Parts: sequence; C-alpha cells; structure tokens
Amino acid sequence: MRIVSFRKDGLLEAALETLLMSDNIGSPVKYQYDGVAQPLSPTTLRYLKVASDLKGLFGEGLDRVAEIGRGYGGQTLVNDQLLKYRHATLFDLPFVNELIRKYLNSMLLTGAYRVTTINETLPDKYDLAISNYAFSELPDVLQRAYIDKVLATSERGYLTMNSGLGGRRSSGKLSLEQLRELLPPFEMYEEQPLTAPFNYLIVWGHDKDFAGEYMIAKQPE
Ligand SMILES: C[S@@+](CC[C@H](N)C(=O)[O-])C[C@H]1O[C@@H](n2cnc3c(N)ncnc32)[C@H](O)[C@@H]1O
Repeated sequence: MRIVSFRKDGLLEAALETLLMSDNIGSPVKYQYDGVAQPLSPTTLRYLKVASDLKGLFGEGLDRVAEIGRGYGGQTLVNDQLLKYRHATLFDLPFVNELIRKYLNSMLLTGAYRVTTINETLPDKYDLAISNYAFSELPDVLQRAYIDKVLATSERGYLTMNSGLGGRRSSGKLSLEQLRELLPPFEMYEEQPLTAPFNYLIVWGHDKDFAGEYMIAKQPE
C-alpha cells in the first residue's frame, strides 16, 4: 500500500472508493492498515500494486491484453475497473477458467474478457501480455508454447518471475539465458515488495522514464 500511495497515481483513492470497499466475494481474509478505516484484502492490494506498475509502464485503455494464469480473476477485475483495459484473453486450466467465469460474471465489467486454454488458441498479437508467477511456474515445454502463442508477439510484456535465476523453483524451467533468446528484448526489475528470494520482473515495450523513477533495475548476480 505504501508504494502505491507514494506514487500518487490516483489508483489507491479510486480503489478505496470502489474495489477495496466492495471486496467481499469469496470472503477474503482482511487486515487493518494504518490510515484506512475498513480492513482490506492484501491480495487485492497486491493486484493494485501491479495495476499501478501497469499504468506507469504502459498507460491505460489498452485494447488487447493477454493474461497467463489468472487465479480467480482478481487482477482482471482491477485492470478493468481502474485501467479501463478493453479486452482480456485469459489463459488458465479448464476448471480454473470456470472459477474465473463465476467470479467475473458476478461483477459488471466496463470492458470484456474471454477465458481459454493454450490448446484452444492460435498464435495471436496482443498489446500487452501479463503473467504474475504463473508463466514462471510452468514446465519449460509449456513456457515455450506460451512464448510461441502469446508472449513473442506481444508488443508489451509484464511478467512477475520466480524462476530463471536459480533457487528450487528454477528446476525444469527456462533459464534467464533461454528467456533472453526467446522473448522480445526485455529489462529486469526488482519485485517490490519482494515476496520470495530469486523473484524479479521481466518487462518490455514500456515507458523507461517511469521505470527509471519508480522501479529498481535488477542487477545481474
Ligand atoms: C500462483 S497462481 C498465480 C495467480 C495470479 N496470477 C495471481 O497473481 O494471483 C498460478 C496460476 O497459474 C495457473 N496455471 C497452472 N497451469 C497453467 C497452464 N498450463 N496454463 C495457464 N495457467 C496455468 C493456475 O491455475 C493459477 O491460476
């Protein structure tokens, strides 16, 4: 919350009036934060931090966004409400896609979404591809499939990674060297706040001035 509040990009205020206040579907665990009357869900706050990164790095109102590994769809809702993304293609497993449908269809979205799986989609072009932890947790054969069908042809990218740099999660996943060969040219940044050792961000097609001011470049070990 401190990071988003420091940036003064208006997202925290907007979310406090809407998303964070009506955040009751699925009975999320909530905590009391300094300066806020009502308890808030830390998961929704994490989605808000990602939305703040996306707003600064890529702007608002993008038309075609791909999201790999969506959980229950919380980030999609935040992006729809606060960033006015127009259409999201969500890739997950079939039974998780049912959960995403149930969650998102209990809301009224400004834009639109569709859920799909890697096997139900041909390679396509996207304005932005996002994946928080999910792409980095897939076995390398699936990572390559997502690169071929989604990431390599996306103009912009934002991946929160927990593999590729070492640590137990990197086993059976693409290494940083392989990612450099297969993905569009990218920059690496620190994950803030850092949620596990070896985590980092992969970003391309972004506003480097914003990144220079608000993000920390990841130095090679
Ligand atoms: C750690 S969760 C991340 C969820 C979400 N991105 C977030 O930040 O809250 C990993 C997600 O990857 C999804 N996943 C697992 N296998 C997948 C696959 N083959 N293709 C796409 N998503 C997959 C899981 O169902 C889950 O939604």
